[in-house]
Amino acid sequence: MRLVLTENLKEDMKLAKPIYEKGSILLNKEVTDLFKYKDKLLELGIKHLYVEDRYSHDIKVNDIIKDTTRRQGKKIVKKTFNKIKKGFIDLNIGELKAVIEEITSELVKNEDILLNLVSLKSASDYTYEHSVNVSIVCISLGKMLGYSESELFKLGMGGMLHDIGKTLIPEEILNKPGPLTDYEYQLMKNHPELGFNYLQQLDTVSPLSRIVVFSHHERVDGSGYPRGLMGSEIHEFARVAAIADVFDALTSDRVYRDKWPTYKAAEYIMNNTERFFDYQLVKKFLPQISFYPNGVEVILSNGYRGIVKNQNIGFPTRPLIYLIEDDQGNEITKEMDLLKHMNIVITKVIV
Ligand SMILES: [Fe+2]
Repeated sequence: MRLVLTENLKEDMKLAKPIYEKGSILLNKEVTDLFKYKDKLLELGIKHLYVEDRYSHDIKVNDIIKDTTRRQGKKIVKKTFNKIKKGFIDLNIGELKAVIEEITSELVKNEDILLNLVSLKSASDYTYEHSVNVSIVCISLGKMLGYSESELFKLGMGGMLHDIGKTLIPEEILNKPGPLTDYEYQLMKNHPELGFNYLQQLDTVSPLSRIVVFSHHERVDGSGYPRGLMGSEIHEFARVAAIADVFDALTSDRVYRDKWPTYKAAEYIMNNTERFFDYQLVKKFLPQISFYPNGVEVILSNGYRGIVKNQNIGFPTRPLIYLIEDDQGNEITKEMDLLKHMNIVITKVIV
């Protein structure tokens, strides 16, 4: 399968992964007349899709966790957030624990050395899908740091609940289409504290998870909030969550902008290391993710166009490419291993 922009859908493309909207299947895998749904999908804010076409049959995209687990996580976090909005004090803690345990156990077992962190989100359920993904990226990074399974669980719980305080911010500010006024921005910046205070009422969530909620907007140069802490004053779990939160937000489609390709988000993290993000953590994280994940369409410095087919472990910028077009625009089918052609680089990512 491969990743395409919805606006570039062609008539010969079949859906390779089901599309869900508000918890139910909108379009099933292998739907053949996908092309006719193009406008509807764009209307729903679905800007990217995994498809099968004549170029993609040999390309495998590995999910780091099962699709069912990801959807279960989203369902529970949505239920939890909605309960809090309605004024309930207790959380669905049993269900939350079960799904985070499942995510942790799947990630601990996953032996892929280069992680594909592409996750397509629907605009309407962004908050919940983002929560699940921050939890996944936190646990993946924690695993790279050698955390125990119990530490990974607490970090994952913190990642899942990091924005729980947003449920206590007025909807009209949260969903305001235009830029926030200074006053509204200040209110929005209360969400880590609101979330932390809310969780303080419960003894079912570990203090280590609560610290993630409280400190995920702290930045190592002291420019973050709520306390303006610096470097190691910020708990390591929160420094991990800061990377996961920003990385996932940048690689997500939003109403106001398209998702950034993974390499660009990785560059952003790299460029802001020691300013916003912890150098030692970034140094562990970046070499272990696929900068150009399988299925992504790219243009090379020799003018050829192709699709990323496989990864070269230890060399995240030099994958194996399945070429589909030469520099004159002629259709070709040939593979090129960028590890064996060090003079050629990826110059553009189409999706
Ligand atoms: Fe936040």
